[in-house]
Amino acid sequence: MGASQGLNMNKVHMMNKVQIRHLGKVFDGGKPVTALENINLDIRDNEFVTLVGASGCGKSTLLRILGGLEYRSSGELDSNGQPVNGPGADRAMVFQHYSLYPWLTVMENIKFSRKLRAKRGDMSSADVEAASGRADALLRLIGLSSAAHAYPNQLSGGMQQRVAIARALMSRPAILLMDEPFGALDAQTREVMHDLILHVHRIEKTTIVFVTHDVEEAIYLGQRVVLMAPRPGRIDTIYDVPLPARREQDMKHAPEFLAMKKQILARIRDTSGMATDGDLLERLNLQAAA
Ligand SMILES: Nc1ncnc2c1ncn2[C@@H]1O[C@H](COP(=O)(O)OP(=O)(O)O)[C@@H](O)[C@H]1O
Ligand SMILES: [Mg+2]
Repeated sequence: MGASQGLNMNKVHMMNKVQIRHLGKVFDGGKPVTALENINLDIRDNEFVTLVGASGCGKSTLLRILGGLEYRSSGELDSNGQPVNGPGADRAMVFQHYSLYPWLTVMENIKFSRKLRAKRGDMSSADVEAASGRADALLRLIGLSSAAHAYPNQLSGGMQQRVAIARALMSRPAILLMDEPFGALDAQTREVMHDLILHVHRIEKTTIVFVTHDVEEAIYLGQRVVLMAPRPGRIDTIYDVPLPARREQDMKHAPEFLAMKKQILARIRDTSGMATDGDLLERLNLQAAA
């Protein structure tokens, strides 16, 4: 009995790639800022979760804590079944700025991630060969095989960000953490990148946590959209996206997509204390009258 119960417990635990319990973060400065308060969230294996919310609601802070780049002030956080106490090979991050090494080619950038560079001294020739095979496969995955020997400054922003994604995937992380990765790209490139990252998610079977302030992006990519609210930074609502697993651009015009977009935008307005158009008009009128 006891043993089988233990097994079940393990199974439940393994299904959650990320488990966040009562997590809090206070930045101590002159005036302490509660960036996150009582965050609770379970993320399943191979799930694609998007985090949205007004600027300053703690999205980046939460992602950096998941990545081990920032300490939590309270609560518990497990990744891949282990408590998070710093960066780890199970988690990789991609940021808005491409951060490739300008003096290395695309292929070299992908192969020699910081972690692999650190270990290069003790890599056997079999390891090096395996790394090359993996790098080739990733280049194909991101559609840049023909640019293998180009340098980053010869590539468009979208292409550079594809390379950054491939580099993050090189060490086969279980969890990919992305902070507004397409925020600097134009609208057409962003659409292409959306379909690319969905393809990567299907093929690589990673779990993805993706931060954005763009509600349409959050719905199109996410299986669940986690809406955060500011002051203090917290989770307000979690939405299950009512779209088929396999996303297509046309779905952005579907009634259920538009309804969810409207609902989330309204909720962001309600929770962020942002002035509504009515408030603004009233204030302008008052100013004009004064
Ligand atoms: N290093 C820091 N020191 C002090 N306050 C910070 C720091 N980083 C973030 N904050 C504050 O924490 C809150 C959440 O910030 P952030 O996570 O960047 O929000 P978001 O990514 O949702 O825009 C904000 O009030 C921000 O000013
Ligand atoms: Mg941010």
